[in-house]
Amino acid sequence: MAQDDGAAQSAAKPTIITVFNQKGGVGKTTTSVNLAVCLAALGKRTVLVDLDSQSNATTNVGITQPISTGAYHLVTGKVPADECLKKTSYENLRLVGGSDELAWADIELALRPECQGVLTDALKTLPADIDAVVIDCPPAPGIVSVNALVAADMVVMPVMPSPHALDGLHKAWWNVNRVRSGYNHDLHSIFILLTMTEDGELTNRLSEDIIAEFGHRVMPVLVPRDNVVIEAAARDLPVVSMAPQSPPARAYLRLAELLVNRASHRGGTAGGINREQGAEALAVWAVEAEGRRSHLAIPEPGAMPDPGWTDAPELAQAALGGNAGWKVGAAIGLILLGAVLGFAAASAWFAFPPS
Ligand SMILES: Nc1ncnc2c1ncn2[C@@H]1O[C@H](COP(=O)(O)OP(=O)(O)OP(=O)(O)O)[C@@H](O)[C@H]1O
Ligand SMILES: [Mg+2]
Repeated sequence: MAQDDGAAQSAAKPTIITVFNQKGGVGKTTTSVNLAVCLAALGKRTVLVDLDSQSNATTNVGITQPISTGAYHLVTGKVPADECLKKTSYENLRLVGGSDELAWADIELALRPECQGVLTDALKTLPADIDAVVIDCPPAPGIVSVNALVAADMVVMPVMPSPHALDGLHKAWWNVNRVRSGYNHDLHSIFILLTMTEDGELTNRLSEDIIAEFGHRVMPVLVPRDNVVIEAAARDLPVVSMAPQSPPARAYLRLAELLVNRASHRGGTAGGINREQGAEALAVWAVEAEGRRSHLAIPEPGAMPDPGWTDAPELAQAALGGNAGWKVGAAIGLILLGAVLGFAAASAWFAFPPS
């Protein structure tokens, strides 16, 4: 399948899927990476955009060298999109990588007029053969995330059923809706994806609460909690590539199929899938992934760095209420005095026992 030769040029614009939830650690990056890899496996020419300065999506697809031109340049409109693309080892998948500079993008964008549409304009300069763009958002409702939502044709909101999930979801939903009504009136495909689900009464109840409130917005696929996801991430691999038959990998492939079908209904270029081809590609990538080195080796503990607080013991004593030395001395003195008096009393008792 052609990747960089632009063999099959698409006339329509790519389907842009933004993965957003302002809450941290709910599975945005895991979802973005695995969704992008599945779309690529299904034959869609896909670009994964890592908008998070943590750059976990970038390393998760095996790119560990620093990114010189990537998502920071794209989202601030400094460089045309085609110059930000990087090949990955997955056929059909290209990356716009994350970097530390992204932490400053919000501030830089805030100084611009029309700062919410910079990414939308930048994505128009993508090569014409791209079918789908998957954007991994940072865990914050800042201007970078707003740009990703303004550019979106679809939004996937990963939610982990946990005690404050519904509250967090309300806030994230409110923000997405605000962007929709202000800047992206065509955004109708907003979906909730339950991630890291577990069997258990509490999780079931929390999931049911979300479904009761958001109804058909909740996608008919659950991504179960499974350590294989963490093991894959530790090897800089998407779980769909390391363990394509595992329950979370199957869930992500199903998610990709559902979104492709949805895109074909709305006439996007991600429409139409070849399921056998997808499964086949994932199986090949799994064999390749097997050979990769694990990053799970536990390092030898080194010497702890000296914190440089030379007067730390005195400071600690002062914090405890001044010099405690005299208190310790007095306590020891009292104990000794008690012992002497006790000995004297006992001797007297034995010498002159009460009649
Ligand atoms: N289905 C799963 N089963 C087990 N662990 C998972 C699963 N999905 C994600 N995780 C783990 O949970 C942690 C958080 O996931 P992830 O990084 O995808 O969340 P995030 O929303 O992108 O976080 P952040 O807000 O920090 O960007 C990671 O360690 C990831 O490996
Ligand atoms: Mg993340």
